[in-house]
Amino acid sequence: MPYETLLIESKDQITTITLNRPKSKNAMNPQMHFDMCEALVGVERDEDCRVLVITGAGDSFCAGMDVKEYFYDTEEKPAERAAARKAAFEWMFKRLRLLPKPTIAAVNGWCFGGALAWLAVCDFAVASETATIGLSEVNWGIIPAGGVTKLVSAMLAPRDALYMIMTGRPINGKQAAEMRLVNSAVPPEKLAEAVLDIAEELKKKNPTVLAYCKEVFRVDQNLTLEDAIAWETAKWTELDAIGKKTWHKGVKQFKQERTFRPGLETYEWKK
Ligand code: ACO
Repeated sequence: MPYETLLIESKDQITTITLNRPKSKNAMNPQMHFDMCEALVGVERDEDCRVLVITGAGDSFCAGMDVKEYFYDTEEKPAERAAARKAAFEWMFKRLRLLPKPTIAAVNGWCFGGALAWLAVCDFAVASETATIGLSEVNWGIIPAGGVTKLVSAMLAPRDALYMIMTGRPINGKQAAEMRLVNSAVPPEKLAEAVLDIAEELKKKNPTVLAYCKEVFRVDQNLTLEDAIAWETAKWTELDAIGKKTWHKGVKQFKQERTFRPGLETYEWKK
């Protein structure tokens, strides 16, 4: 289905959502939040989709919230602002963060403010070395809110987080990789290839197991060690019950058939 603010392409079990407001540097207006909510439901339901990539059209990844359409124009329209905010939180923190499939952000250019919230909740991120990434809120007279401060602080060392939050100075993709805000940074012409490399690796894995890995990781962040041990044990047992014990195949392929070494590669879970 065509969207006003997004392009969606599926190829070889990899779905790419491209934010498509290049004239506005892919700033997120209310319509983009509504579109993302719907698009992510589609991605979750699409049985053919094994990996989701999100990127931006033109020279931008995403210039944060559309400061005019999202903030300024809705100032006197509380119901419209509430609807847009609810949609923003819904797609970023529920539908994307908890999507039971791997997600990769391909940070191709300008990336500011609210974009760092959903950059942080993607499972992986690869940046162009020349991308420009910043928490520019302080430059506007506002604070990084809506979860941005918390999520960025959870990824960065406190000194780096406060440097970005309080100076508003942007960093490039290479610095973002050094600070571990992204997994890696590559020359701009290698970005698509680097993202595809991760996606292809993920496609080899058992998708049910990947979904469990991710859910366990996300929930673990809020648990004590005792609770996490109980939760992980329960999820392991659940996976064992519903996952048709495909790990038995792994043991057989390793110990009897000697066709693979689990430390170095993935078992044939489909066989
Ligand atoms: N909201 C609304 N419009 C935007 C935004 C945005 N966040 N970012 C860019 N635009 C618009 C510009 O106003 C301009 O519109 P116009 O053509 O109608 O005049 C168009 O996109 C192109 O932007 P330019 O500024 O002309 O492009 P340039 O390449 O010179 O600069 C840059 C790009 C650095 C991204 C600049 O546009 C910028 O600083 N944008 C704001 C980034 C920001 O601070 N985002 C955080 C917002 S706060 C939050 O997310 C919570």
